[in-house]
Amino acid sequence: MSPHRNAVSTSLSPVTPDRAKIARAAKALDAGELVAFPTETVYGLGGDAASNDAVAAIFKAKGRPRFNPLIVHVANTKAAEALVVFDERAGKLANAFWPGALTIVLPRRADCQVSLLASAGTDSLALRVPAHGVALDLLTAFARPVAAPSANPSGAVSPTTASHVAESLGDFVSLIIDGGPCTIGLESTVISLTGETPLLLRPGGVTAEEVEAVIGHFPHMDRGADTTPESPGRLLQHYAPRRPLRLDAVGVNSGEALLSFGPHTITGAATELNLSPDSNLTEAAANLFAMLRELDSPAHTAIAVMTVPEIGLGLAINDRLHRAANPAVNPEEPSS
Ligand code: TXA
Ligand code: MG
Repeated sequence: MSPHRNAVSTSLSPVTPDRAKIARAAKALDAGELVAFPTETVYGLGGDAASNDAVAAIFKAKGRPRFNPLIVHVANTKAAEALVVFDERAGKLANAFWPGALTIVLPRRADCQVSLLASAGTDSLALRVPAHGVALDLLTAFARPVAAPSANPSGAVSPTTASHVAESLGDFVSLIIDGGPCTIGLESTVISLTGETPLLLRPGGVTAEEVEAVIGHFPHMDRGADTTPESPGRLLQHYAPRRPLRLDAVGVNSGEALLSFGPHTITGAATELNLSPDSNLTEAAANLFAMLRELDSPAHTAIAVMTVPEIGLGLAINDRLHRAANPAVNPEEPSS
């Protein structure tokens, strides 16, 4: 468990973005400092991707194991092509989904300037062009790649508002840019194109079906205890509230909070939040992390979670819920 898990910082107030703040953020990145910024998926903890010191500072702030590589953000496909070897599939995916919630893992170019620490010792690099005006303004102002994992301590729930970031990582960043709540609220889909067959490393904001519509069908990894370092982000207990999570609940026990989905007849919850009263998976994804945080209070013995359908964005939602519900497979090595 991360040593930062219990840290509460109120020292840094998020700022509303304007030209001057974006310029200040770009300057901070240039000086090797860390900046938290909004994306359409979750808030990112950004640092100069070419700087070993800045990338190391990201790992330190998150309490993240060194072997877990970081996503590098760029302003457009051309900037990505300067860092990694694009093939036809990558071109098609970038064309279809960038800017957007798809991260593509590709072989690093020999002249790639991104810190090897961001690749965690592998010869691949994960890249994404985020679909968020503030993120794109920052990337354009900085004009170089920005390494940015989700802005949460390692193993904790990803932040979907600026105040989530201020509560946990405020002490580690020079600036938190407040772009409001993230519209998708779930991390990006991560797909590796380093081998002949595409590999879905993490389900996320873009569904596997949407990716397959562009590059054809490919095998998916099963959900569960995957400890291969190919995708460290798939280690169990990735998104962990402190209260135990009970999945597929059809009722509540005394003292339990209820995270519901759609219309239902369950009564007696200490507190209830509904991911989407209309059973809308997009709305549920956007609410997931903020609601988990809210229900993760000492007032509750556990969080009972109703079943979410395993279709479309439901796959990514269930992936995060199963991780949050699972006991640590390797407590020494929490994931991102
Ligand atoms: O939505 C997102 O992707 C957010 C926002 C800020 O962009 N970022 C994010 O980053 O979730 P992070 O670092 O928390 O998650 C990165 C995931 C991890 O599961 C990591 O293991 C995987 O991507 N990853 C990164 N680089 C990789 C690489 N070279 N090979 C395989 N997996 C990689
Ligand atoms: Mg993360």
